Amino acid sequence: MEKLLINGGNRLVGTTRVGGAKNAAVGILPAALLADSPCIINNVPYIDDVITLTKILESIGTKISFMGSGSLSVNGTGHIDYRAVSDMVKRMRGSIYLLGALLARNGKVETAYPGGCEIGARPIDQHIKGFEALGAKVTISHGVIRAEADRLVGNEIYLDVVSIGATINIMLAAVKAEGTTVIVNAAKEPHVVDVANFLNAMGANVKGAGTDTIRIKGVESLSGCEYTIIPDQIEAGTFMIAAAATCGDVTIKDVIPKHLESITAKLIEMGVEVIEMEDSVRVRGTCRPKKINLKTLPYPGFPTDLQQPMTALLSTGEGMSIITEGIFEFRYRHVDELRRMGANIKVEDRVAIIQGVEKLTGASLKATDLRAGVALVIAGLMAEGQTEIEDLHHIDRGYENLEEKLAALGADIKRVGKGETILKKVDKDAAI
Ligand code: EPU
Repeated sequence: MEKLLINGGNRLVGTTRVGGAKNAAVGILPAALLADSPCIINNVPYIDDVITLTKILESIGTKISFMGSGSLSVNGTGHIDYRAVSDMVKRMRGSIYLLGALLARNGKVETAYPGGCEIGARPIDQHIKGFEALGAKVTISHGVIRAEADRLVGNEIYLDVVSIGATINIMLAAVKAEGTTVIVNAAKEPHVVDVANFLNAMGANVKGAGTDTIRIKGVESLSGCEYTIIPDQIEAGTFMIAAAATCGDVTIKDVIPKHLESITAKLIEMGVEVIEMEDSVRVRGTCRPKKINLKTLPYPGFPTDLQQPMTALLSTGEGMSIITEGIFEFRYRHVDELRRMGANIKVEDRVAIIQGVEKLTGASLKATDLRAGVALVIAGLMAEGQTEIEDLHHIDRGYENLEEKLAALGADIKRVGKGETILKKVDKDAAI
């Protein structure tokens, strides 16, 4: 079994860069099926979720070429099957976007129920509400979601909860519908805006993305385009937190500092120095961060995806910090693992009460989901002694070359285990 071995205590120092946004890529790749000619997509992150998604898209007839340097050509012309029910669909959450894309493209779709991190119930009622409002008939049986419509017609859709997935899926379904669709109480995350910008680059008419009301005027057809995915807000935030956690001094390049404002604000409150530049941020840690209170919220609030790394950082903060998870019912599976390292954290429902300890100590740990995994990596970098982390497939779903990037900043981290690492690298060089 592959493991990460981390000898903690090294400061991270130097410069790193982040890749393209995972949660934009998983919307943009299926969106490319709506064009009547191929799309070239740049800055595609080489992570397991994207690899799985390209395999799913190929399995239904999409022609995908890896062009090197993170660029992909996606050709969704010709016959594309409306069914995507393989086990690969169940491995990731982002496969949910096949629903909106195939419904708009083929008038019907069947997909397996998506998987992804186990962080709460993760219902899809708002996606279904949106499709039904556009005129689709949606059924779910035996783990398969089916949607079908003779024609999709624009409508006003009020989302009962702010959902990134539902907002993107409804945009995909509505972009070629007759008339105008209005999504009220839409998600405003940067990756929602990126998917809207990609749709517009193909000729769609989507206005208001980034606000809570998105208007989509249906168009007859969309054509291929070249598009560059935005930098990953969560990967950038992960490195910011890792720099702070190791009392380091790291410049993170190729970011959009505006997207990082909530993270910057909380780090500054903790006594960390954050210097914003045009497309980079420099983070200089303080030896023990000050206590803070934090609530995760939809954008522009503090992202839930960084709650787990932040818990690791605060576990050695001075005093008592309180974190409230405002998005998912249970995103604290990393806490048991942090306790093995000596952290003093109590969890009651959505609230984690963290009494900072002077230091964490290395332990044998398991990643339970993507961001839990990276939180443990950060904890390992901070801890005294050696930390071992198993179940790395969770981390590989969303981080590209994580250990190489951290090692280049001075971390003592390596992946050990069966020969898959080497195979994966060869595969990678041949691919993106
Ligand atoms: N929700 C509903 N009904 C729905 C949809 C969502 O009640 O139909 C609820 C959810 O249960 C949750 C809240 O609304 O309480 C927000 O969920 P959202 O739909 O925004 O999340 P998602 O689309 O399932 C995406 C990311 C997650 C990220 C969340 C929140 C992708 C593929 N996934 O999930 O990413 O945590 O938004 O920001 O975009 C990750 O990258 O580690 C990750 C888990």
